[in-house]
Amino acid sequence: MKNRSLVSITDYSKEEILRILDLAADFEANPNQPLMRDKVVATLFFEPSTRTRLSFETAINRLGARIIGFSDSSSSSTTKGETLKDTIKMVSNYADLIVMRHPLEGSARYASEQSLVPIINAGDGANQHPSQTLLDLYSIKKTQGKLDNLNIFMVGDLKYGRTVHSLLMALSHFNPVFHFVSPVELAIPQEYKIFLNERDIPFFESTTMDELDQADILYMTRVQKERFSDPMEYERVKNAFVLKNKMLKNTRDNLKVLHPLPRVNEIDVKVDSNPKAYYFQQAKNGVYTRMAIIAAIMGLK
Ligand code: CP
Repeated sequence: MKNRSLVSITDYSKEEILRILDLAADFEANPNQPLMRDKVVATLFFEPSTRTRLSFETAINRLGARIIGFSDSSSSSTTKGETLKDTIKMVSNYADLIVMRHPLEGSARYASEQSLVPIINAGDGANQHPSQTLLDLYSIKKTQGKLDNLNIFMVGDLKYGRTVHSLLMALSHFNPVFHFVSPVELAIPQEYKIFLNERDIPFFESTTMDELDQADILYMTRVQKERFSDPMEYERVKNAFVLKNKMLKNTRDNLKVLHPLPRVNEIDVKVDSNPKAYYFQQAKNGVYTRMAIIAAIMGLK
């Protein structure tokens, strides 16, 4: 992992994923480890973010490094026409590591090819969100005591939801059964079905949430308004699935509800106090997991 970019979750082997999760547990037990006092990390967010940017910046602060960057690209020379290639070449002269979110699929891989320092993909369009996946895996392992042989229900926008795409690829190492629940318009893309078929991983597709009693993990997602070219299509599907407490009544004791957040309307706020709701703790786990990712890439652990 040392000095390697993290662009797609497929950049890490199963063993490397498990190593990050072990490191994250170490950081959770002891979160203030200033191992990077002489380092500078750039956070370049060309798209809005609350959790990813702030948990990365918390992780960087807890590791003792300093931060440069922007949370709004309108304050950068991108507005004057500077290309992503030139921006990355410049910033990689300044920082030891770059964390980047960008609206274009493939932008993180492209940036990693231009950069002198490792890139961590903090989300590239509808493609991948690998650091979210590692915190999702950490949350699943922490709540289930294992990653293997779980029934994973993924609900909502499975077409544009990059967290879903990264997570299903990572879970493919752990013998899962997937249940994909979405409106037909937002079904899981064909390329991910091919990925699962090639690995003999069973999956079921549905347009209803009728079989939640079989779930170990219920991974809810937001309908990604910003990725729709037709606003009317968004209006048609935006409230397709809304999780309510009554729907959790006959579910397994070990079930946990995860959501990468932000939530819009897809989980009733009354669910927040249900012991099966885990999404706010999940977001907290992001700090420890991102400390682990940075420490592994910088060769500090
Ligand atoms: N989960 C996630 O990516 O949240 P933000 O968009 O707030 O970073």
